[in-house]
Amino acid sequence: MNGFVYSIPTTIYFGDDQFDKLGEVVASYGSCVLLTYGGGSIKRTGLYDRIMGLLQAQGLSVIELGGIEPNPRIASVRRGAQMCKEGNVDVVLAVGGGSTIDCSKFICAGAKADRDPWDWFADKTTPIDDALPLVTVLTLAATGSEMDSGGVISNPETHQKEGRGAACLLPKASFLDPQNTYTVPPFQTAAGSADIISHTCETYFSQDKDLYFLDTFMEGLLRTVIKFAPIAMADPANGEARANLMWASSWAINGFADGGKTQAWSVHPMEHELSAFYDITHGLGLAILTPAWMRFVLAKDPDGTLPKLVQFAQNVFGIDDPALSDLERANAGIDALQSFFVNDLKLAPTLTAIDIDDEHFEQMAEKACHKNPAIAGFVDLTPQDIVKIYKACQ
Ligand code: NZQ
Ligand code: ZN
Repeated sequence: MNGFVYSIPTTIYFGDDQFDKLGEVVASYGSCVLLTYGGGSIKRTGLYDRIMGLLQAQGLSVIELGGIEPNPRIASVRRGAQMCKEGNVDVVLAVGGGSTIDCSKFICAGAKADRDPWDWFADKTTPIDDALPLVTVLTLAATGSEMDSGGVISNPETHQKEGRGAACLLPKASFLDPQNTYTVPPFQTAAGSADIISHTCETYFSQDKDLYFLDTFMEGLLRTVIKFAPIAMADPANGEARANLMWASSWAINGFADGGKTQAWSVHPMEHELSAFYDITHGLGLAILTPAWMRFVLAKDPDGTLPKLVQFAQNVFGIDDPALSDLERANAGIDALQSFFVNDLKLAPTLTAIDIDDEHFEQMAEKACHKNPAIAGFVDLTPQDIVKIYKACQ
């Protein structure tokens, strides 16, 4: 096991009874705030009015940037950064899901930089070392952007969707009130839950020597999402289900579960190419790809992957029939996950079902490797391997 540093300085205000502190917290960073949000859900739900009331009670001056897209675009980052510069903004308040929060992270950095924000994604090495303070109000349990230092931005002109991270992008504070997710529709609840599951699996499936404690933590996290996502879809105002999904989303990706792991994530780079080329919902792409990826790595490196896939089947889905061989158990676990995505979360089973054909498979596979010979994950994946996984999803 490798040593590691663990530090998450984001302050979390969890629950409705904490929400009224929002105005004070934002005001502690200055008097001029850029309020960012997406396509309008916060106005329909009444959240916008509540937040404006809290900000106005502190005497803050508020500039607004609405209309941030799902799979947020570099144009929105540029616009927000410009508004910060022109308006002498002190702090950014992002209200929404991962798209609004991700976009706002790079707005915060762009406000402090003299370069075009796309430079950070084009070469992946230009440092991001300063940013305005960011406060978030999460409205969708999914990405964990509320408690991590990364974000993903799309450039439709170049068919690129690229991620970057930096310590200065971590939100200073995030307000997690499960009631703000009661209006999330079933499809977005499902896609967000698939994203939480994928973040956990990307870390859990590792050939590094694990900390047993972290494995059991992640198995519990997976069981939590599997239990509560269908409840939240059927009963959107179920507070217990929404609270569990919300806190799980943050902890799946806030670094706690990593425990010094060295391996790269595998499924996310493949999915980001699907979103870049077809603008699909991130969690949906992950739900289609993940079972196919599991079957592929099991076939490519059975010795390296079988023990962990058996452990997953047993500890997440309770598959422990002694009559089954290890291989049968591993496959039963993969089948159970796919069935959960398709039958319980009602997500599309294949790329064909969402009108994606093989036209760009080779190009996407090359790009997913980011100029490396392979994705160095649970099992290394070459571009040829990735094409096979895409094809298995047809
Ligand atoms: O835009 P509005 O009108 O707000 O509607 C949104 C949007 O249409 C809607 N929504 C959000 N909260 C709602 C609501 N509708 C009703 N009631 C509410 N309370 O949901 C739709 C999707 O929102 P979005 O923010 O796009 O979803 P999500 O949170 O899944 O974010 C996805 C983005 O995050 C990136 C993804 O790639 C994608 O671009 N990711 C960010 C990560 C990170 N920062 O660490 C990691 C992830 O792996 C992921 O890549
Ligand atoms: Zn994700």
